[in-house]
Amino acid sequence: MAHKQNPNEKVIYVGDSRIRKREHNPSYPADYSAYPGKSEAFVPNFLLKEWMVGVVVLVGFLVLVISEPAPLGYPANPLNGSFIPVPDWYFLFLYQMLKYPYASGSYVGFGVVCLSGLPFIALLLAPFLDSGKERRFYRRPIASSLMLVSLVAVCYLTWVSWDHYQSELRVNGVVPEDVERVAKAREAISKGLPRPVPGREKIPAMVAADDPAFKTMQKAQCIACHGTELEGGAGPALRGVGDRLNKQQIHDTIMNGRNAMPSFKGQLSDAQISEIATWLEKQKAGG
Ligand code: HEC
Repeated sequence: MAHKQNPNEKVIYVGDSRIRKREHNPSYPADYSAYPGKSEAFVPNFLLKEWMVGVVVLVGFLVLVISEPAPLGYPANPLNGSFIPVPDWYFLFLYQMLKYPYASGSYVGFGVVCLSGLPFIALLLAPFLDSGKERRFYRRPIASSLMLVSLVAVCYLTWVSWDHYQSELRVNGVVPEDVERVAKAREAISKGLPRPVPGREKIPAMVAADDPAFKTMQKAQCIACHGTELEGGAGPALRGVGDRLNKQQIHDTIMNGRNAMPSFKGQLSDAQISEIATWLEKQKAGG
């Protein structure tokens, strides 16, 4: 049987829909229109404002990125055995955690999955551990102490990791590439020269290219690292090396090696090393 409608009842619809407006029910929160001047519609007023702020930030960011390109380092060098990898500072604590015995070696799976998952497990447990109504932090011993312990652990691990990295650098006599780059840029600017662009430094021409020492170097495979024209590669450019090192220093470098530079003691005779050192010393920018 059809519902009988009272012909005298005044029906009010919501907007242009066919939904009846209900009588005021105090359990429903009032509509924003109940507070004229104090509130606004989400669509479009509020959304439009948010969107405009978003556009301003985005365009500003784009302009910044285009005008100031990200500083790129030297190309990665797979032959550089002295490179000490290190993550960005905010991951140092995780990096340090993974160096401990129970997170590395045969426990590496445990270290990667469980130790890194600990914070997530703690977050999952948070609603059960911290179920009281109290909001003041000194009245919530479990939550507060967990937070304090993790904060202290993160600070401590970051510090230990950085300290370890610095001592590794000292022991191996390595200057990180970014530090070296900054030092070179400072030096150039203090001399009034333009700031060097990594990988695009001007290399002086080769001096006395017909010297037999160059043949000896080709045979000894020096060019595999220093470039077929001594323009540099895995090792530094040797054109212009005479401006940096004297004959004795070049001799010692070939004889004893240095960092990723292998020693050629025994592979080359003293006479050959002297021949190369004499020639390389002549490699100066002035010619
Ligand atoms: C396996 C790659 C490799 C080979 C092969 C190699 N070098 Fe090197 N060489 C290097 C690296 C890397 C350096 C930079 C060392 C450092 O970081 O102090 C270097 C540095 C040098 C330097 C000092 C350059 C400077 O500006 O301080 C000289 C001189 C040199 N090498 C000469 C030679 C000669 C001569 C040979 C062949 C007999 C040779 N190298 C073979 C990798 C190599």
